[in-house]
Amino acid sequence: QNAIYGAGLAGIVPKVPVDFATLAARATAAMPASVRDYVQGGCGDERTQDRNAAAFDHWGMTPRMMVDCTARDLSVELFGLRLPSPVFMAPIGVTGLCTPDGHGDLAAARAAAGTGVPLVASTLSNDPLETVAQAMGDTPGFFQLYTPKDRDLAASLVARAEAAGFKGIVVTLDTWVTGWRPRDLNTGNFPQLRGHVLTNYFSDPVFRAALARPPEDDPAAAIRQWMGTFGKVLTWDDMPWLRSLTKLPLILKGICHPDDARRAVDAGADAIYCSNHGGRQANGGIAAIDMLPGVVAAAGATPVLFDSGIRSGTDVVKALALGATAVGIGRPYSYGLALDGAAGCAHVLRCLLAEADLLMAVNGYPTLAAVREAGAVRM
Ligand code: FNR
Repeated sequence: QNAIYGAGLAGIVPKVPVDFATLAARATAAMPASVRDYVQGGCGDERTQDRNAAAFDHWGMTPRMMVDCTARDLSVELFGLRLPSPVFMAPIGVTGLCTPDGHGDLAAARAAAGTGVPLVASTLSNDPLETVAQAMGDTPGFFQLYTPKDRDLAASLVARAEAAGFKGIVVTLDTWVTGWRPRDLNTGNFPQLRGHVLTNYFSDPVFRAALARPPEDDPAAAIRQWMGTFGKVLTWDDMPWLRSLTKLPLILKGICHPDDARRAVDAGADAIYCSNHGGRQANGGIAAIDMLPGVVAAAGATPVLFDSGIRSGTDVVKALALGATAVGIGRPYSYGLALDGAAGCAHVLRCLLAEADLLMAVNGYPTLAAVREAGAVRM
């Protein structure tokens, strides 16, 4: 925070803007149109997506005075890990599109290494999960599973993640099929279907064994195979099987209903991840932040992760005040990658954290426990 503020006071103009509106405008202008539509777009007419961000406006916090906030502690414990801040990078598939060299996933991993902000690496990474894990250095990472129909392939992906040192498996529940995405449909632009090489998937030994020729020699066949195996519909009956795949913490992403949160806890989930996929999967929904309090209440002592609509450090603090244990950043870090690779991504994360830290300072919340105790009220 001091470094960013100090640079501002010294008249240094940052290469990557410090606020979301300017960041999004610059990044989307810099991206090729197909990449912009893929990253920025959402489901239907994007009302849910817009509401996700707008809904933060009707939650407000009250400052407290006469509290010594000269030192703030933003660290958080999750699954026995001590994280320096309560923020992580949400999984973003085909992140390779965001940097000219096609290795956006590695750039995000390097930003994780530089900031201590964990990355949840997507199944649909453009780099093998092993190299992504390596690029994260000492920063803990999590692996996000899009559960394939082929159980052996699912088991292989999870085993690789475990061997690569990831600290938990995030199972995304809301995307066994892709939502109605007009921007991509109108332009025939599903980058992942148009052969952008899904190297993580294609590097899997179980996936490769099912192909007549390696993906490098016949990418079209590999993509057909990928489409054929992608997207198992998960039900609660699959929980024992999912649980059996790993001893790592199991985190269920996409839980928005309190009953589902209770069910997840009963079924042995180690954390609930409240998210509506940034409004990319279903339209006509409630803003994710408005569903968070109900999920937190239902989850009891089980940690609740949250994403969808976080655009600022203020949003981060509001989500924490409403009970999230840690908060995921989605599109903002993609925009940072697009403008300045790993450095741009790290800058976006640092700005969010600096704003959150400064807000805690001026609001009289020295710790995350104080943030949670202060809460937020619906205005
Ligand atoms: C996503 N998201 C996502 N989620 C997931 O579990 N696996 C994935 O591969 C992807 N891929 C993906 C691509 C792109 C371009 C975006 C924007 C999002 C959803 C992501 O993890 C997160 O839930 C949302 O991005 C959060 O919303 P905001 O912060 O983007 O509003």
